[in-house]
Amino acid sequence: MSGHGSYRQDIFPPISKYHDSGRFGRMFGKLPTFATDTPKIRKALLDIGKAGGIMDAGALLSEIDKDPVTLITDLNLSQFNQNNPTQTAGMTFLGQFLDHDMTLDITSSLERQADPEMIANFRTPSFGLDSVYGSGPDGSPFLYDQITGQGIKFLIEELAPGGRPDLPRNSQLLPLTGDPRNDENVILSQLQVAFLKFHNAVVDYVKAELGLTAPGDIFKEAQRIVRWHYQWIIVHEFLPKTCGQTVVDDVLGNGRKFYKWKNEPFIPVEFSVAAYRFGHSQVRPSYRANFTGNPGGTPFFAMIFKETHSDPTDPDDLTGGFRAERRFIDWPTFFDFADGNVRPNKKIDTVLSQALFKLPSQIVPNPDAQSNPNSLAQRNLLRHLTFSIPSGQRVAKAMNLPALSQGDLAMLKPWGLDDHTPLWFYVLREAAVQESGERLGAVGARIVTEVFIGLLQGDRGSYLSQDPEWEPFLPTINAASTGEDFKIVDLLRFAGVA
Ligand code: HEM
Repeated sequence: MSGHGSYRQDIFPPISKYHDSGRFGRMFGKLPTFATDTPKIRKALLDIGKAGGIMDAGALLSEIDKDPVTLITDLNLSQFNQNNPTQTAGMTFLGQFLDHDMTLDITSSLERQADPEMIANFRTPSFGLDSVYGSGPDGSPFLYDQITGQGIKFLIEELAPGGRPDLPRNSQLLPLTGDPRNDENVILSQLQVAFLKFHNAVVDYVKAELGLTAPGDIFKEAQRIVRWHYQWIIVHEFLPKTCGQTVVDDVLGNGRKFYKWKNEPFIPVEFSVAAYRFGHSQVRPSYRANFTGNPGGTPFFAMIFKETHSDPTDPDDLTGGFRAERRFIDWPTFFDFADGNVRPNKKIDTVLSQALFKLPSQIVPNPDAQSNPNSLAQRNLLRHLTFSIPSGQRVAKAMNLPALSQGDLAMLKPWGLDDHTPLWFYVLREAAVQESGERLGAVGARIVTEVFIGLLQGDRGSYLSQDPEWEPFLPTINAASTGEDFKIVDLLRFAGVA
């Protein structure tokens, strides 16, 4: 570490400064909570989000007792948890990765806590990749390769000697990363590895092409190139696919109407508790992780999660936090490399894959049916009380957008929530009704686009702030295409993982 002087202090503020910045806040501060916090309403939310309830694809008989291959190949089974023909399986995990870059609420309580301004966001609310860079080479030196990488390339380990790359881990297999949540499942942890390798490849590029020699200068320039290419993918690939090109163009061209701040951007709870949790509905029950990982060089198909694990060191699901030779990802199943291997993700609707109703203990330790449920749907719904989230109907009205009818939400009638619906459920149903589940509907798309573009505009280091005319310059798969076509597949290729 010694020898590189104090340049890194300039690039990375001290950790405390990171952790002070950013609170959660509200986009629609004047709107009341969707319902008063009573035992009756808690029971209703637990009922709606329970395993075997109206949101569980397993209960709809499509996923019960099916093996991971059948769940992919038998298209009849998909009728209750439909495939999305316009999005690929990897978009889900890019979405999860983006979430972890901008938000981290480490308060675990599902009890009432009405004032989001009091809850610190432990992430800088920006797309600066602090989930990858940590506090930089000075603040998080353990993330960087001090022996062969001049302390400015990331440390990367292997799943097995000479095998595929893995996150560096401590002796108890805990990941050494900017955000341990990025080890939650194998797809996400391998995406994190891809970003580590992307940075390392860009460091080599900066040395070779730009002729920089001082480690501090190389790091700073490589980090800027990495961040800007990543931000380009957010604006030009992720947002149009998730929200539709029209709303993205409108927010970029005509400005934000609802997401505003005084001093610094913050994360609105309407976004983090409701709208941006839409991705939970895109998760498939099972995936083809890779083509050759299983014995005999056969594909490794697995459920995303199983409640209990067959093997304590190499379970037959895709839970993160284990190190074994076959726990790697072949990306052509997840993103479209035009080789016919890509598979779809699930539609955005009110049906979630069965596995999410019984999350493993690695994700929810010590579950308790009432206060700490291991159903993700129940957790999301209870958070609406914790953070006093308004109903979808009121938000639609405040945004002057057409609201769903009670008929559209008839499945909530038994609990009387068809006319004052928790915003997360509303956003999912809206996507299904208005966009056939292929992307978010009017309210969801507007919230997500405004927050994403706002975070980029509020970040003084982003390409949108510094140089809105900038275009990517790293190579694209199709040599004939120009920088503006740079996509996630190009990032993975440049990183050397695809
Ligand atoms: C296998 C996939 C995923 C799993 C297992 C998962 C699991 C979780 C869990 C356990 C929480 C905390 C719930 C709580 O206690 O309130 C959470 C929060 C959240 N998730 Fe996911 N998630 C997944 C994918 C996604 C995706 C694809 C997105 C968005 C595209 C997403 C967006 C969010 C957001 C915005 C939060 C709140 C974060 C915060 O406020 O700090 N998740 N997720």
